[in-house]
Parts: sequence; structure tokens; C-alpha cells
Amino acid sequence: MGSNTLRFDGRVVLVTGAGGGLGKVYALAFAERGASVVVNDLGGDIKGDGKSTSAAEKVVEEIRAKGGKAVANYDSVEAGEKLVQSALDAFGRIDIVINNAGILRDRSFARVSDADWDIIHRVHLRGSFLVTRAAWNHMKNQKFGRIIMTSSAAGIYGNFGQANYSAAKLGLLGLSNTLAIEGKKYNVHSNAIAPTAGSRLTQTVMPQDLVDALKPEYVAPLVLWLCHESCQENGSLFEVGAGWIGKLRWERTLGAIIREKNHPMTPEAVRDEWAKICDFDNATKPQTIQESTGTLYEVLSNIDSGKGISMNPTSQKPSSSSGIDPALAIGQKLPPTVYSYTHIQPILYALGVGMSTKDPDHLKFLFESSDEFGCLPTFGVVLSQAAFMGGGLSSVPGLNIDFTRVLHGEQYLEVYKPIPTSGEMHSEGTVADILDKGSGALILLDVKTYCGKDLICYNQFSVFVVGAGGFGGKRSSPKAKATANPPNRPPDAVVTDITTPDQAALYRLSGDWNPLHIDPNFAALAGFEIPILHGLCTFGFSARHVLKHFANNDVSKFKAIKVRFAKPVIPGQTLLTEMWKEDNRIYLQTKVKETGEIAIAGAYVDLTSTVSNVQSRDAVQGTELQSDLVFEEISRRVKDVGNELVKKVNAVFQWEITKDGNTAAQWTIDLKNGAGEVYRGKVRGRADTTFTLADQDFMDLVLGNLNPQKAFFAGKLKVKGNIMLSQKLEIILKDYAKL
Ligand code: NAI
Repeated sequence: MGSNTLRFDGRVVLVTGAGGGLGKVYALAFAERGASVVVNDLGGDIKGDGKSTSAAEKVVEEIRAKGGKAVANYDSVEAGEKLVQSALDAFGRIDIVINNAGILRDRSFARVSDADWDIIHRVHLRGSFLVTRAAWNHMKNQKFGRIIMTSSAAGIYGNFGQANYSAAKLGLLGLSNTLAIEGKKYNVHSNAIAPTAGSRLTQTVMPQDLVDALKPEYVAPLVLWLCHESCQENGSLFEVGAGWIGKLRWERTLGAIIREKNHPMTPEAVRDEWAKICDFDNATKPQTIQESTGTLYEVLSNIDSGKGISMNPTSQKPSSSSGIDPALAIGQKLPPTVYSYTHIQPILYALGVGMSTKDPDHLKFLFESSDEFGCLPTFGVVLSQAAFMGGGLSSVPGLNIDFTRVLHGEQYLEVYKPIPTSGEMHSEGTVADILDKGSGALILLDVKTYCGKDLICYNQFSVFVVGAGGFGGKRSSPKAKATANPPNRPPDAVVTDITTPDQAALYRLSGDWNPLHIDPNFAALAGFEIPILHGLCTFGFSARHVLKHFANNDVSKFKAIKVRFAKPVIPGQTLLTEMWKEDNRIYLQTKVKETGEIAIAGAYVDLTSTVSNVQSRDAVQGTELQSDLVFEEISRRVKDVGNELVKKVNAVFQWEITKDGNTAAQWTIDLKNGAGEVYRGKVRGRADTTFTLADQDFMDLVLGNLNPQKAFFAGKLKVKGNIMLSQKLEIILKDYAKL
């Protein structure tokens, strides 16, 4: 055997029912490739009656005669633990379990007795359960295990006279599927096979020449490969025999939605849609329960919002199997949408993307009676998203896609006029192009939004449909608005901003009702630990940061924004936007501060002009101050000691940190309320003492190069409020401001 040979040296394999037929061939093959084998066989007849030791013994002798390692076990698989104990006693471990033992009690259904039913279930299904459970924790602990369940074509397809056997055999597939999921992270894999081979079981139903021709040796190589440490296959089902191996999977029609909101669902409606329910054209192949139930969630939310998506939107057959026919779909218009709103929606949107009355210059986005009341430019996505959210895409001929597999990939927004603070907006969507990205299809959806005849804004939604690629389309498009990478230098400005735990709950009120952002069950089905923030919410935060820093919140200066959604953000995480100015283009990327992961990438905002001299000021504001690090450290230490320090100090200190004569940061050290808290920003409530000093002086103070009293008399440290309390400052600086 060559160096590429699949070996099992050091591995311990338990093969049940290995006294003859398939099991014997598996045992011999594993032993020949270096494994230590437990040859289990009860030695009864094919109906499960009687027992003997000779079957297993003979196989063990044969293995040993060839120089292999094997021991016999004569227990029934119903004594699961004992079989595994044999492996542990003889070889000290268990790596691979082949559940193979089997008997038959064939009868036409009416004649199946209780005993016939029970013994088949006990040997096949319960036996496999007991043996595998006994081995399970050993496999988990050693982070390696391979399990084979022996199913049968009789279970998959049904077979006359085998009701009991079919039920048990398909039960084994279900068992294997779940073990595959539970074992995955421990490198414990489970697969099911449906073999066909000549043996004493098939002798009764097959002519002898076929029994001779269908050798068990044509099945064993699949079993060995599935059990090798280099094989990653898990949770699959194979048919195997005569030298052929094929894999099976489930297929599901696109189906039909029968129910309408506020209408009873009737059997007549089912009858009328029967052809569609059973039409396998463009069928999907769900691979997980999440994929399967995801459709139901989609249906629920669509019916409840009164939209009712059609799962099989067109009678025209797309030319490709992926369900996408670019020739048909490109250029198609979506049903036009109207969005009417009052001042409430822009305010709700501004709150949704993190605006706060804490910032005085946010008031013009939050208070309808303020002088310059206006909409954030990125509110433009809200105007147009109805075209896309309302299931408009599903009405496009040539776009048969699985809506549970749609991801929002990128967004471009261009604003032509300041967005009216109330009114009626008409949007027209067009499928601009469809790209074949291999792993999926990228649909470019252009939406133009008008107020009367005036074009207000243009959006390009880039929608990625996972698994819908490979239809032979082009890979790029001149119509795509491209992302852009930032210049290769440290950012010119950095802003951090905290999202609240309810950020997504608030943002969705602007019209993106996807339960992924609020419903923990739905989020779990989509593979997230908790509901995630809307990409477009992070998008709103980022745009706001640029608008404030480089346009002084003047919305008339905002022209366009492009972003790519790279990673999800969890509500409550801190966003950190890095910005680079190159003429009127501000490149940006937004990270999750806690993890350092980039959430928004390849992004830029185009402004018509930037605010004069704002750059130098922002460079100061944006650059991380040295004192920030110290405050963050104090914050950490205060968290550790909390109460104790609150008792000692019992005061609230506000800090104004200056740079080049301007206030560059505000910090609050609250050692009065609760367990104490240190946060960036103005005091919430009342400060006992307010300190003002320069960033550098603060550092000198902390490093012990500057004495607080001296600083005070030299005018470097300004103190307002209760001056006596500043004595307690030393406690904090001495013990809690270590770098
Ligand atoms: P076989 O009868 O040659 O081998 C089965 C072995 O299991 C026998 O040696 C028997 O003594 C042993 N056994 C029965 N009950 C036991 C128990 N309670 N505890 C321990 N050992 C026990 O049959 P074959 O064909 O090799 O079948 C192996 C497996 O493949 C069975 O699960 C069978 O249902 C399955 N299968 C076989 C097909 C075929 O074409 N041969 C078709 C589909 C499935």
C-alpha cells in the first residue's frame, strides 16, 4: 500500500453483527489497515432467534491469522454498554462504531405481530442507540469519533412486506442526522448508508447469481472512507452497492401560499393550488432545519404584513436550474410604491440611527419646531426600501430565488435635494443587472424616488442570494456602484458612538420589519446568538459621523454614500468610524470597537464641499487623546472595586480635557451613585466638581510629573464647584490611574 493509503493504526473499531455478511467484510478491511477491531455478533438466525459464539470467533481467528488485532464479543446489541466495554477492556479506547447488526421479520402489514414489530425495532433502532450512546462520551472527550448507521432502501422508498423494518431503518437516518449535528463540534461524525449486498439476509429475496455478484466488498470501501479521520463528511446518506456509490438529499417544491391575511384557510384552496404545491420545477434543496423553517417565518411575516409573497412567482420557466434567468429578469420593473409620511418618520429614523438630544446640534433632526428642522440624508433609504421590502423582487419574472437566503450586500444612495420632512414619495425599482458570483447571485436593484416630478434620491441595493450562482452570468457590471478602499495612512478622524441594546428595536420602526433584528428564535434559526442590528442602521450611524465632522451637519452638502456590509453588529456594541478626507470625498470604515471587526467596509461619502477649517479642528477632536486611555483604565478599575470607592469618595467629577485651547473631550467620574461609573461625555445630572485641563497636563498629573496644587496655582488646572473635594482626586489618580 502506498503512502497515500488510508490507515487506521491506533484506532479501535466496533463492528456490530460482524459474524457474517457485510459486518464481517468491514471487520476484515479495518483490521487489514491497522485498526484494532471488536467483532460483535450474537450468532442467532436471520429472524433473531438463538445465539452462538462461533460466528464472531471465526472472524476473529481469520483477522489474527492475517496478523491483525481483534477480539470477539457475543452480546446482543441490546446490551450496548457491554459491547463498548469490550473495546475499552481489550484496547483502551473506542473510535469508530459501525451499527450493522440486523435481522428480518418480513410480513405483509396486516400480519405483522407485536413481537415482529418490537424485535425489529429493538435490534436495529434501539440497539444502534444503546451501542452509540455507550461510545458517545468517549468520542466527545477525545474529540474524535466516526459513526455509521445502517439504513436501507426499504426505509427510504418503502418495500412490500417490510413495514416494521422500513420504519426502523428510516428511524436510523433520523438518529444519524441529529448525532451529526450534536457531534460536529467534537469532531464526532455520523453518516448513514443504505447498502445492497448478497448475504444471508438477501438470499431469501434474490437469485443466487445476484447474491454472488453483489459482493459486500463493494460496500466496505465507502464505510472505511467515511470513518477515516481525514473524511469530513457528516450527516449524509449514501446508497451503495455493486461498485457504485451515490449520495441522497431532500428536495422541496417552491410550494404555494394558500392562506391570506384575515381569511380562513380552506381545503378547497389547497385543492386549487395542488399542481403548484407539487410542482418540482425549480425545487429547492433545504439542508438544515433552519433553512426549512426559515421559509415558514418568511411566509408568516409576509402574510401578516398583508403582502403575501408568491413562492413560485412565475409560470415562465427559467432556463437555468438556479432559478435565475438574467435575460428575462434584467430590466424588469418592480411594482411602483408610494411612501407617505409626516415629520414623525424622519424623527423616528434619526433616533433609530443614534441621534440624541444630548448633542445640542442634533435638535434640528429631532424637534419638528426647531428652526432648521430637516431629514438626515440617509433617510433616503427608508423612502425607497418599500420597493424592496414589500417582496417586490418576488414578482419579477426570471427571479425564482429562495428569499430565506437573501443577504443585503451593499448600498449606494445619492441625494439630489434635501429630503422633504413630510410628503408622499413615489419609488420606481428596476433590476439593473444580475451578476453570477459563483457562490451566489448578486442582484443590483436601482430605485429612484420622486416627490411629484422632482427626483429626490437614487438608491442601489446590492442583494446577494446565497446558493443561486452558477447560472452562467457575467461577474461584473458597469452599472454597479463600486466600493472604494481608504488611503493607506492613519485616519484623519475617528469617532466612537455607542449603540443601545434597543437600537434594532428602535430602528425597525422605520420600516425594516425583518424578525432577524428582534426575535431571538428567528435570529437563532439564522445562526446568530441574539438578534443583530440592521446593516442600514450602522450605515446611518456612519453617515451621521461624516456629516457632523466634515459638513457641520449641513444636509445640503451631502451628495452620496456607498457602503459594503461586512460583518454584523450586535445592539449595544460601540461603533468606531474611521474617516479619511480626500478633497470632497470622505473614505470611511466602521468597526465594532469591542471586537475590532470591520462592520462597514469599502465605504465613502461624497460631499459637495467640506466645511472650511473643519478639518484641523476635527483632526484634534477625532484623534484619540492620551487622556482617553487613562479614563478608560480608571473605568475598568472602578468597575472592579465599585462600592468601596463610592463610599470613600462620594462625589461626581466632571472633566473638560482641552487641546490647543479647545475642549476636546468630556469625561465623567461618578463615584456617588450606585457602584460608580466612568463614562465619556457630560455628567448625567449634577457634578460636584468640574476640572478643566489640557490633555498633556492631565498626563503629567497622572505620571506624577505635575503636582495638582502646583497645577492649580499655575492656572493649568481650573476647578469649579466644590474645591475641597478635589483633595479626593489624589486617591483616584494615585491608585486608579495606573497606565
Ligand atoms: P447478515 O445477516 O449477514 O448480517 C447481520 C449480522 O448481525 C448477523 O451476523 C447476525 O448474527 C448479527 N446480529 C443479528 N442480531 C444481532 C444482535 N441482536 N446483536 C448482535 N448481532 C446481531 O446481513 P447483512 O446483509 O450483512 O446485513 C447487515 C446490515 O445491513 C443489516 O443491518 C441489514 O439490515 C442491512 N442491510 C443489508 C442489505 C443487503 O442488501 N444485504 C440491504 C439493506 C440493509
